[in-house]
Amino acid sequence: MCGIVGYIGEKVATPILINGLKKLEYRGYDSAGIAIFDKGNLDVIKCKGRLASLEEKVEKDTPDGTIGIGHTRWATHGEPNDINSHPHISHSGKIAVVHNGIIENYMKLKEFLQSKGFNFVSDTDTEVVAHLVEYHYKGDLVQAVMESINELEGSYALGVICKDCSDVFVAARKDSPLIVGLGKGENFIASDIPAILEYTRDIYILEDKEVVVLKKDEVQVFNIHGAEVKKDIFHVNWDVAAAEKSGYEHFMMKEMCEEPKVIRDTINPRIKDGKIVLDDIKITPEDLKNIEKVYIVACGTAYHAGVVGKYIIEKLARIPVEVDVASEFRYRDPLVGDKNLVIIISQSGETIDTLFALRESKKRGARVLSIVNVVGSSIARESHDVLYTWAGPEIAVASTKAYNTQLAALYLVALDFAYKKGTMDEEAYARTIEELKNLPAALEQVLANKEVIQKFASQHYNAKSTFFIGRGLDYALSMEGSLKLKEISYIHSEAYAGGELKHGTIALIEKGTLVICPMTQESLLEKMISNIKEVKARGAVVLAITQERNKEVEKAADIVVYVPDVDSLIAPVVAVTPMQLFAYYMAVEKGCDVDKPRNLAKSVTVE
Ligand code: AGP
Repeated sequence: MCGIVGYIGEKVATPILINGLKKLEYRGYDSAGIAIFDKGNLDVIKCKGRLASLEEKVEKDTPDGTIGIGHTRWATHGEPNDINSHPHISHSGKIAVVHNGIIENYMKLKEFLQSKGFNFVSDTDTEVVAHLVEYHYKGDLVQAVMESINELEGSYALGVICKDCSDVFVAARKDSPLIVGLGKGENFIASDIPAILEYTRDIYILEDKEVVVLKKDEVQVFNIHGAEVKKDIFHVNWDVAAAEKSGYEHFMMKEMCEEPKVIRDTINPRIKDGKIVLDDIKITPEDLKNIEKVYIVACGTAYHAGVVGKYIIEKLARIPVEVDVASEFRYRDPLVGDKNLVIIISQSGETIDTLFALRESKKRGARVLSIVNVVGSSIARESHDVLYTWAGPEIAVASTKAYNTQLAALYLVALDFAYKKGTMDEEAYARTIEELKNLPAALEQVLANKEVIQKFASQHYNAKSTFFIGRGLDYALSMEGSLKLKEISYIHSEAYAGGELKHGTIALIEKGTLVICPMTQESLLEKMISNIKEVKARGAVVLAITQERNKEVEKAADIVVYVPDVDSLIAPVVAVTPMQLFAYYMAVEKGCDVDKPRNLAKSVTVE
């Protein structure tokens, strides 16, 4: 996620901004910049790369103004380069803006502003905000910001500085975090507490659509209608390490709790007028007619997302799909050619096995669509088309939110293909899109009920082996649940198709064996209940995960974790989170290093 810092006071702003951005480096970024109000001018210094590169540029000519905004960019729209880095400047150079989030309607606003003669220089959504504020600016910066954010759709945390304003700057937020630091003769804004902790521990936590006006001796907060809002001061007593995790004990928990937001960020911008629009990916109905089979190729968690992808693309778009782990695919002389689409999935976009599988596919004439979380990564750059998962940086080695957004991206692809091939009726298409838009709320409910899972983990963390069993989409989900548990708690586990137990595995079930059953597929519920009875008859302890409507599961399982009544087709996006939480709590109970499990790296860039 991007990092924002702003300062107004008596001190030179530049070092405070850069120091604050350094405290936000953990959030991940690929470019950085600052804008300083200095004697009636806006000095903007920005560049691709690390903060050290920015510091080198700043040292050559350090602005000595006492008002400024700074930014570290995690690229979403537009690859990492100097032009796309923030701050962005308005048409006349009068306004500078930094932004964290995604402006979903930026294309429409861009066209409007261009029709008014505003020239754009970057590929970003953020630049729209700089020009829009200038468009509304008639001498009152606060008013201009309020009118602008009224026209924005999507998520934003904004810092806005103006050449005419020598004693004030403005900030606002919706869906992306932003806090106000309250100092003595100085005030701050930041995306997160660590950036300002050494200057003040007294903060305002801004609510959605609040606008804050900062002077060195005064901070005022207004709601979107211009009425002043009385804010309570929150005194931060975290240490810096805790603050980097926004108070969470681990990045993994922080990232699971970000799932509602990142699912919204990944899905909503791709739904326009009730239709799926896969950004600028041009796979036409004609192209789809020539695709005889889709291959999905990835590693680890991304591979497990691909297995879910197989079920949904085949079910909705009726195209045969073959899923392969990248390390196998590239060495098995795959029957891939110009009649195939290869979907490459990768959070980091740098996994070497997956990158080589991509190259092998292109060499054999296949078209490559990648689903990637890092803009400008190797896999993104070498693909014909990229559909980004806007999960933001994922710090914990164990992938959680990125997996959920990979599933979301695959649903978007499956729906788009189904619509273009006419394999889905309008009503089902529209209904499924509505279901996808409700996923963030469903995930909020799951995350609000962690206690059952935490309690179950506290009773069973000494388990020597655990089985994850499911049928259909739940079998695909079981694979991911099993990997999560293994990689962070070091407890051996297996994922099995429920119907496979009687073909051998059930010999391993004995008293106390843990069995986890995602059961979100109504048509297979009875079969899964029979499987639960089979393992319970041999002494297993069973935790089931199912929608609230499936009360009959309670009669079979020992513990049931309910998820909201989402449609079975999209249930994986919601039902995986209880399994992520289960793995997390088991690892915490065992005292494992949850964020940095032994032997593992966040991105496997070696074979
Ligand atoms: C998942 O929790 C692991 N970190 C690992 O399996 C990971 O999914 C795999 O290495 C693929 O990484 P990628 O998505 O960055 O390509």
